Order: sequence, then C-alpha cells, then structure tokens
Amino acid sequence: MCGIVGYVGHRDAADVVVEGLRRLEYRGYDSAGIALVHDGHVVARKRAGKLANLDKALADDPLPPAGTGIGHTRWATHGPPTDRNAHPHLGAGGRVAVVHNGIIENFARLRADLERDGHELRSDTDTEVAAHLLEAAVEAGSDLTEAMQQVCRRLEGAFTLVAIDGADPDRVVAARRNSPLVVGVGEGESFLASDVAAFIEHTRDAIELGQDQVVTISRDGVEVTDVDGRPAEAGSYRPYHVDWDLSAAEKGGFDWFMRKEIHEQPAAITASMLGRHDAQGALQLDELRISEEELREVDKIILVGCGTANYASMVAKYAIEHWTRIPCEVELAHEFRYRDPILTRATLVVAISQSGETADTLMAIRHARQQRAKVLAICNTNGSTIPRESDAVIYTHAGPEIGVASTKGFMTQLVACYLLGLYLAQVRGTKYGDEIAQIVGELEQMPAYVQRLLDASEQVHRLAEELSTARSVLFLGRHTGFPIALEGALKLKELAYIHAEGFAAGELKHGPIALVEDRLPVFCVVPPPGRDQLHDKMVSGIQEVRARGARTIVLAEDGDEEVAPYADDLIRLPRVPTLLQPMVAVVPLQLFACELATRMGHDVDQPRNLAKSVTVE
Ligand code: F6R
Repeated sequence: MCGIVGYVGHRDAADVVVEGLRRLEYRGYDSAGIALVHDGHVVARKRAGKLANLDKALADDPLPPAGTGIGHTRWATHGPPTDRNAHPHLGAGGRVAVVHNGIIENFARLRADLERDGHELRSDTDTEVAAHLLEAAVEAGSDLTEAMQQVCRRLEGAFTLVAIDGADPDRVVAARRNSPLVVGVGEGESFLASDVAAFIEHTRDAIELGQDQVVTISRDGVEVTDVDGRPAEAGSYRPYHVDWDLSAAEKGGFDWFMRKEIHEQPAAITASMLGRHDAQGALQLDELRISEEELREVDKIILVGCGTANYASMVAKYAIEHWTRIPCEVELAHEFRYRDPILTRATLVVAISQSGETADTLMAIRHARQQRAKVLAICNTNGSTIPRESDAVIYTHAGPEIGVASTKGFMTQLVACYLLGLYLAQVRGTKYGDEIAQIVGELEQMPAYVQRLLDASEQVHRLAEELSTARSVLFLGRHTGFPIALEGALKLKELAYIHAEGFAAGELKHGPIALVEDRLPVFCVVPPPGRDQLHDKMVSGIQEVRARGARTIVLAEDGDEEVAPYADDLIRLPRVPTLLQPMVAVVPLQLFACELATRMGHDVDQPRNLAKSVTVE
C-alpha cells in the first residue's frame, strides 16, 4: 500500500525522493507526488497513475533544486485516484505539505471543525485535514515537530504522516501509529520511508521506530519523541543494520522481480536454515525469546496469517501436530479476534507475515497478547511492526520480496514452520534426536531439489503457452497438497485474473466436480505413495475428473508410475517426505502463474488492485 519517502541532506532531494518512490512501486499504488522546500516555500507536483506520469510532469515543469523533500505513492482509500486526491496535500496557505499512509478515522469530524473555521479543503482525502491542522499549528508559532505532536494527539486511526514546512528547510518530521515507517541514517543526510528499499542505495543504517513516536530528521541526525514531546525512552526505538544491499532490490537480469524471487528460493532456503542447527542436526533457535520451560507448557498453537501466509499455516499444522502432538488451529488473521478465540497463558499464537506490517495480522496478535497468550512471529522484514510487538520471532532471511505475489516469502515461511515444529519436538521430547536430525537432513537437501525444478522450468512454460486462453483452472490436493492447491489457485487469480480454485481432492464429489467440463485444466498434487491410502485416493480423484473430460496436469514424485496413465501432463517432483512435499510441489505452480500472466501481457510484479503490504484492516 502507500509508499512514503522523506529526505533532508546534501543531495538533490527530488532525485532521492523520486528514486525512493520507484523502489517502493512494488507496494502497489495508483497515483504519486512530491513536495520540496525551496527558497522559503513548498513546491509540489502530483499525478494520478503510475510514476511515469509524475516523471513527465517533472520533465515538463522541473522542480527547483532543494535539499529537503517528501514523496508518496498512493493506494486510494478516501476518494478516487485523481490528481486532486494524490499526495502531498498542502495546508490552507500552502506552507506545510504532508504525505500519509493509513486511515484517519475521525477525519470527518476534524474536517467539519476546519470548515466551520473557514478552511477550504480541496480533496476528498482524510490526509488533507492533517495538512491544515499542521499548518495552523506552525502558523500559531509551534515548530513542525511540536505541531506534529499536537496533531497526532487529535488523530484517531492508523497512520504514518510525514511533513515539511516551507519556512523550515532543515527538517522533515514524521509520526507513526499502527503503520510502517523506518528511518535511514546517513553522513550529513537522513531518510524516512515506508521500508528500507527506498534508501538502501544511500545507507544501510536504519532505525525502527516505536508506536506513537514522532521523529525529526535533519542533516545532523535524528530525534525521536513521544506524542507528548518527551524524548523517547532508550529501547523504545531500535537502530539496526540492513543485511542486504541494492542488488537484492533490483531485477538482476530477470523480466520480473517475481521470476527472480522464484529463482532465489534455493538460496533463500539455505539462508533460513543457516545457523539454526548444529552438526548433529539438533535445532538451535537462539533468537527465540521464549524459554524452553514456557514452550513445554504450551497446550495449543493457533497459527494466524492472511493469504499465502495462511496457506503456510495450513502446511505447518500438519507438520507441527504430527511432530509435537500439540493441537494446532489455523485461523485467518482478520477473522481471529472477532470470534472470541479461547486463549490462555498456555496458548502459543504463531503469526506468519512476510512484510510484518499486515494490519489484520497485527490486530490479531494484539488481541492475543491482551488475552495473555504468547505470540511468536515468523517474519521476513527486520524492523517491521509484527515482530516488534511479538514475544518472539523467527526471521525467514529470504531477502527483500518485491513482487506482490509471495514466492520465496512463502517458501521460507515453510522452512521456519518446520524448524519451529522440530524445535518444539526437541524441547518436549516428542521426537528422538536422530529422527529430528533426519528431517533436518532432508531440509538441507531442499535447495538442490528446488533448483532441479527451476532448471526444468521449460516444461511448465510450454504448458503456460498451451493454456494461455484458459478461463478457468482447478487445483486439487490432499493432506499437505491441499494448501498447495489453494496457493496455486491464489497465484493464478492474482496474476492472471482468471477463475482458479483449489480444493481438497476428497471434497470434489461433494460439489466442485460439477465445475469439471471438457478440457478444463486441473492441476493435481499427488502425495508420495506409502502414506496410508492418501496416494491411492488421490489417484481415484484424478480418474474422476479425467473421466469427465478434464485435462489433468499431475505433479507426482519420481518413480510414481501408478499415476502416469491418468496424467495428460506429468510434472515430476523430487522424492521427499510427505510433510515436506509442499516445498517442491509449489515451485511449478509459481512458475506456471508467472509465465501465464506474462503471456497474457499482465504486470506480474504489480497485479491490478493489489498492494504488497496491506496496512489497513
Ligand atoms: C499472495 C500474497 C498475499 C500475502 C498476504 C499476507 O501472493 O502475497 O496473500 O501473503 O497479503 O501478507 P504478509 O505475509 O506480508 O502478511
């Protein structure tokens, strides 16, 4: 969702801000704008549509040189994506400019108050009220930092605000409540952004801010206060060093970030395993801030997340219950707190989020902690809100995920879930050490297995070519193949914009089989033979859809000959244990969605209507 950049320093602020916005494009947006402080005034440009429209506006009417500026990519909430509603928004006299991410919930009341006082608001946005309030405060004699503190005390909702004052070229001021914001600290320059990708080419030293903090950046450094103006307490914000560089945020020769990220999965799995077990295969999750004693007392696990992260949770349930015998529930984060879940001190809530900023998941963990449950985050983004508000965290170390559709994020969420399950089994003694070591050994093989599937992409690409006019595709799976069927369908929906559905294969005859018609493509994820009768039951399901005319695209492990006669297309998977099969089965489905959407001429990295970090509920 919205991307924010702020800069003060020795460089040309327009360049830094526009380049920063370009690096935040992946978050999803429908308009863009910039404002600078020049010669005692604010100057601004903004345009509906993609950054190219803003680039053109800047080429037609260049901005003057400036060392202080802010910029924004907007994902519309209040008011349609027009030039008028694009950010920055200016105060009544054009002295203060503001960009904003989030929703100001009491904006209607504030707007009515402003209009009663004679203010004329020019847009449909909630943001503009903040610009008018800030400007009124600086006009009344406050500096911009004090003004921000005063205004934040009046605002309700979730927001990041970043502002400049035409009369004060030396500072940019920001505040955050339930919405992302990081600070970049350079030599004689400072940055603000929704995430570090915006300034990673200039500095890798960042600060993660606490809740309800106001930050003032200048050429000389950074000051953090609370909204009452008190200096922020040590520990309430955290300096850290970003462990990836600019090259990770570029496409590296691929046509899409998504394709690059699919191909980065072997390395991402390795990075997620690194240092987390000893030479004997015993798990060591040193960063986990929950004691072994507390983990032994856990009597229920609830896994919360949204979208792809929810499917990772579904896979985790199979593995964690099997290895630990602790009952696991899987819950969509946005449903969780509204059903009054039963939570006790012995409940472990595992929140899975690539971005660490998903508002639905954040609200779920806050609810869980209020009820005294322990919360463990599985997250890919250092410095983000969800891990900061959790009792413990397992970082997934996949590197920045820029394509909107999650791929390496999902893959490493699976790794983290498996590691957590094995660690719990180790601590609670529900698996012997050699059994754990054996599974760890299998996980260590995964990068090579995934690489093998990537090297065979051509088969999936041919399939995408043949199916490029399909209007509907089904995905079937059983056991851990069921969430993978759901994930395959989600990838196709979001990228190719066609009807795609995933089903538990056993559910077919209870309704969905009515959808099957001649030549309908049906992907079938076949469990490895030998796990009870799962395999045979899946083969029956494949026969049933094929008998009704479906084109079956079967994903089955090497050596599984039983299924071959019923496969119109057969994609071979490396032989792995059933519980780990999602890590290999998902890869062809990711490649298929990416390739099909490419052939359809869609923007794979920024699918329509979607945002990378969903920071509003
Ligand atoms: C789908 C996808 C989304 C996210 C979901 C949660 O490809 O990426 O479904 O998985 O929005 O996002 P995070 O993991 O950032 O909480």
